[in-house]
Amino acid sequence: MLEFFTKRVIESQGEKGIMKRLAVIILAAGKGKRMKSQRVKILHLLSGSPMLSYTLDLARGLKAKRIVVVIGHQSEEVENTFHEEGIDFCLQGKQLGTGDAVKCTQSVLKNFSGTVLILCGDAPLIKPETIKRLIQLHDSSRSKVSLLTTRMRNPAGYGRVVRDKKGRVSRIVEEKDAKEAEKRISEINTGIYCMEADFLFKTLPKIKRENVQGEYYLTDVVSMAVKERKKVSALVVDDPDEVMGINDRIDLAKADLIMRQRINNELMKEGVTIIDPTVTYIDREVKIGRDTVIYPNCIIKGSTVIGEGCLIESGSTIVDSEIGNGVVVRSCSVITESRVKDRVQVGPFAHLRPETQLEEGVKIGNFVEVKKSTIGKGSKASHLSYIGDTTMGKGVNVGAGTITCNYDGKRKHPTYIGDRVFIGSDTQFIAPVKIGKDSIIGAGSTITRNVPPESLAVSRVKQINYKRVFEKKPEKKG
Ligand code: UD1
Ligand code: CA
Repeated sequence: MLEFFTKRVIESQGEKGIMKRLAVIILAAGKGKRMKSQRVKILHLLSGSPMLSYTLDLARGLKAKRIVVVIGHQSEEVENTFHEEGIDFCLQGKQLGTGDAVKCTQSVLKNFSGTVLILCGDAPLIKPETIKRLIQLHDSSRSKVSLLTTRMRNPAGYGRVVRDKKGRVSRIVEEKDAKEAEKRISEINTGIYCMEADFLFKTLPKIKRENVQGEYYLTDVVSMAVKERKKVSALVVDDPDEVMGINDRIDLAKADLIMRQRINNELMKEGVTIIDPTVTYIDREVKIGRDTVIYPNCIIKGSTVIGEGCLIESGSTIVDSEIGNGVVVRSCSVITESRVKDRVQVGPFAHLRPETQLEEGVKIGNFVEVKKSTIGKGSKASHLSYIGDTTMGKGVNVGAGTITCNYDGKRKHPTYIGDRVFIGSDTQFIAPVKIGKDSIIGAGSTITRNVPPESLAVSRVKQINYKRVFEKKPEKKG
């Protein structure tokens, strides 16, 4: 979804000159202590994708010459997750501060001269439009340093932007180093900047760690530029949500809500009906066709693609699946890693497990579980069944309570059911077993041997009716 925003920016860019000499640095070495997690912060999921992927998408969309990610905590996991051509990773051994983090990229960027865009891996909501405006301001004002700021009602935790009497930026003071009066400043530093590479790398070695946290602050580059009478600009963004940094799980939930709204809005704009977007959870990679209607409390995840004119009822979860056109998924169904063709009906309370394929017009009804099976065109299993490791033909009718007994305690075995087979209720297929086409299985049968085509198979003991014996004869009424 974010990619979508990014593409629009690029199309309207038209100023290739700027982009040609742009490098992007993404700071992502910190652990994220306040997340209180085993997992490094930037790998936490936001609308189904790791936090860092949003910033990376933005960087890719800018067609920057270089993309450099500074990693530290769990660097191997981060590198493995995002490894791809065109992205360089720099390892920051010790997290000595944002200034030190940028310094780590010097070796990779030594032959680069131009503008460096610095982004934070923990600020995933920033929109490409805003970054484009920052780059334009930086370029047109010929600044050495341009920063992105915003005003916050509650600026606690952020660095404050200190301006002089003429309103020009003079420095940034971190909350922990700020005097009471400075803490009352509502304009904050978003941690996103454009800087000229030669000035940046010339200045970084001069930064000292004389502050409360004993860190090398990247923000000191701002006051140093001012001191050296270099041009410094600031772009104030109106929407503080867009630049929020995620520091703890409360921020994560807030960012998730914002991202969810963005995703749902985009889908609605493209013709999807979402009955209640506040309780509909759709991952950013998901694609949904026009005139599909999604009822509340649905969770649609991963690489799922849903076609046009579908109906997805309340409480259904669809993960990494392909759903055709005109499909109806009734309430509380769970579909995982499955392919569902056009006009299929699933649920309510159905479970499609991985490697299930339902051909056109199939009906899987309530309390039916299907696993690793292909169900042919128009076949129906309407009630209470388990179908596993099965290949089923066209037009089959599966009676209520049919079970494929696919597991012998050690191994899984397949079941084959031919076209137009009629399976009576409460049948068990002891796999491996093959049922020929156009056969009928009598209700209540336990099928242990293959059934030839066009046969009737029944396996049940003959019914005996005994005379009922009463201790006391029932009183006759009336
Ligand atoms: C930083 C800014 C602050 C700003 C805020 C916006 C500094 C000194 N302060 O503060 O002015 O308001 O961001 O969110 O820059 N990182 C590293 N290596 C390090 C330290 C940090 O890669 O040694 C990375 C972190 O992983 C994170 C980013 O840099 O992605 C920002 O670091 P963080 O510690 O969150 O900075 P803040 O205290 O939030
Ligand atoms: Ca932060």
